[in-house]
Amino acid sequence: MKILHLDSSPFTEGSVSRELSATIVAELCARHHDAVVTYRDLGTTPPPHLSAAAMSMLHNSQEEVMTPALVAELDGIYQSIEELTACDVLVIGAPMYNHSIPSNLKAWLDQVCQKGLTFRYTPQGVVGLIPGKTVYIASTRGGVYSTPEGKLHDFQEPYLASILELMGVADCHVIRAEGVSRQAIGREKGLAEGRETLLQILNA
Ligand SMILES: Cc1cc2nc3c(=O)[nH]c(=O)nc-3n(C[C@H](O)[C@H](O)[C@H](O)COP(=O)(O)O)c2cc1C
Repeated sequence: MKILHLDSSPFTEGSVSRELSATIVAELCARHHDAVVTYRDLGTTPPPHLSAAAMSMLHNSQEEVMTPALVAELDGIYQSIEELTACDVLVIGAPMYNHSIPSNLKAWLDQVCQKGLTFRYTPQGVVGLIPGKTVYIASTRGGVYSTPEGKLHDFQEPYLASILELMGVADCHVIRAEGVSRQAIGREKGLAEGRETLLQILNA
C-alpha cells in the first residue's frame, strides 16, 4: 500500500495538524505492514503558485519559451501529479486558515488538479481520472465548525472533499480535531476526538 502523506502547517513545533496526520499514518502503517510512505512537507517547502507560462503549457498547449524556471516549475507539477497518481491512500494535514485551507495546500491542489491529467470534462459532466483512492483529511481548527451554524463558515473540509471528488476520490474521511484553541475543548480533547473517529473508521 502506497501512502502519500502531506502536511501544510508552516509550524514544525507544536502543530496540531502535523500530530494528527502523523497519528493517521502511524495507524495505517501498523495495520498494513507493506505500507510505503512518501512524505511532502508543503508547510516548509510550499509549491510555487502557478505561473501564466505553466498554465498556458498545461491548459492550452501553447508554445512557451522553455526557460529554466518554467522547466523547473513544470517538473514540480508533474512530480506532484505522479506522487498523487501513484498513491493508494492520501493523508492530508489541513489546518483551517481564515475559514479555508492554508495557501500552501491550495498551491499543491492547483498543481495536481489539472484538466486532462487528473480530471476531464465530458458531455455528461466532469469525470475524475484518479479514482480508487482513500483519503484521510486531518482537519484541525481553533474554533468549532461542526455545528449547523459553524458549517455555514466552513470552507475547509467541504472544499477539500469537493476538489478531491472532482479528481475521482469517492472514499474521503475527515479526522477532525476542532476547538483546539478554545479553553473548554483545547488541543488534547480535540486530538482525542480525532483519534476516536480514526479508530472507528479503521475498525469498521
Ligand atoms: C493564519 C491563521 C488563520 C486561522 N484561521 C482560523 C479560522 O478561520 N478558524 C479557526 O477556527 N481557526 C483558525 N486558525 C487556527 C488554526 O486552525 C488552528 O490553530 C489549527 O490547529 C492550526 O493547525 P497547526 O497547529 O497544525 O498549525 C487560524 C490559524 C492561523 C495561523
